[in-house]
Amino acid sequence: MDLAQLTRDLESLVAETATALAVAPDVAAVEALEVDVLGKKGRLTGVLRGIGALPPEDRPKVGAIANRVRNEIEGAIVERRSGLGSAELDARLRTETIDVTMPGRPIRRGSLHPSLESMAEIARIFGQFGFVVYESPEVETDENNFQLLNIPVDHPARDLWDTLYVDIPGHLLRTHTSPGQIHLMRSVKPPIRALLPGRCFRYEAIDASHGSEFFQVEGLMVDEGTTLGDLRGILEAFAHAMFGAGKRTRFRPGYYPFTEPSVAFDVECLVCGGPGCPACGRSGWMTILGAGMVHPVVLRNCGLDPERYQGFAFGMGPERIAMLRHRITDLRLFLENDLRFLGQFR
Ligand code: DAH
Repeated sequence: MDLAQLTRDLESLVAETATALAVAPDVAAVEALEVDVLGKKGRLTGVLRGIGALPPEDRPKVGAIANRVRNEIEGAIVERRSGLGSAELDARLRTETIDVTMPGRPIRRGSLHPSLESMAEIARIFGQFGFVVYESPEVETDENNFQLLNIPVDHPARDLWDTLYVDIPGHLLRTHTSPGQIHLMRSVKPPIRALLPGRCFRYEAIDASHGSEFFQVEGLMVDEGTTLGDLRGILEAFAHAMFGAGKRTRFRPGYYPFTEPSVAFDVECLVCGGPGCPACGRSGWMTILGAGMVHPVVLRNCGLDPERYQGFAFGMGPERIAMLRHRITDLRLFLENDLRFLGQFR
């Protein structure tokens, strides 16, 4: 081996690589060739191993030649690779078209729970009469839930509410939203037009029409000169908006300790429209809420003078409203989280 021979070997490696590059069909082939020629165990290294056989005075000269050869080969590889790369990109761009006008995959939209949907509708309708939504606590004192609403300790009227007590003495899970009236009248000056929606709790044997957890929407209006006629008019307008214009409504006498007089508010049966059917217990009427004029004792408990202020209040169950509107027959469905049920109220 002499310097001339080694130089020829290097030159022919350049030539062979150029030929191979010219026929390389794609970027992958160029990369394989790069490894084969320039890799650690590649052909260039192989040729340079001949240095050891050169006379010592020739050896330093090889470095410059080897660098030039390596640069030439690298340059040729880079050039070929970028040529092939842009050709491949062109080909892909030509074949892989994306139709940006194609409709996307539909996003599954959730929906309000029927209890909430019903509450939202109630709030929307009463909102048109100027009623504003307030919140009040779910854990209440016995005082707010009962005593200040004119239901004394040990009074038989307590039998109307099956109560769940909590470990804090004198506290319970509110059995109705009526204690919200106390909070409100003690903190806001009349005129008051308020809705108090929220969750209530009772110690109940659960069946198709009784739950231990349910919602109520309390309504309260307090002003000078508020009458039972105002209550009647507003509830009728509400019933027409909720169940359909022209539906007949009626007041029946009722009893609640915190109102005097107290009434039950009925709307004509939404199934039979009057003659009577199984859905309305053959009466032709469906009861949708309890209501009345705020009891003077309750007004006084909140620091309001009943000679000056009168008010009406009502309490309704949004689940019951939803059941009437959608002909749902079992209250338990509201808490089972079955999407087949919930998905029907979009
Ligand atoms: N709090 C009553 C209940 O849970 C419903 C009710 C009736 C609320 C009459 C009222 C009302 O504000 O005036 O059964």
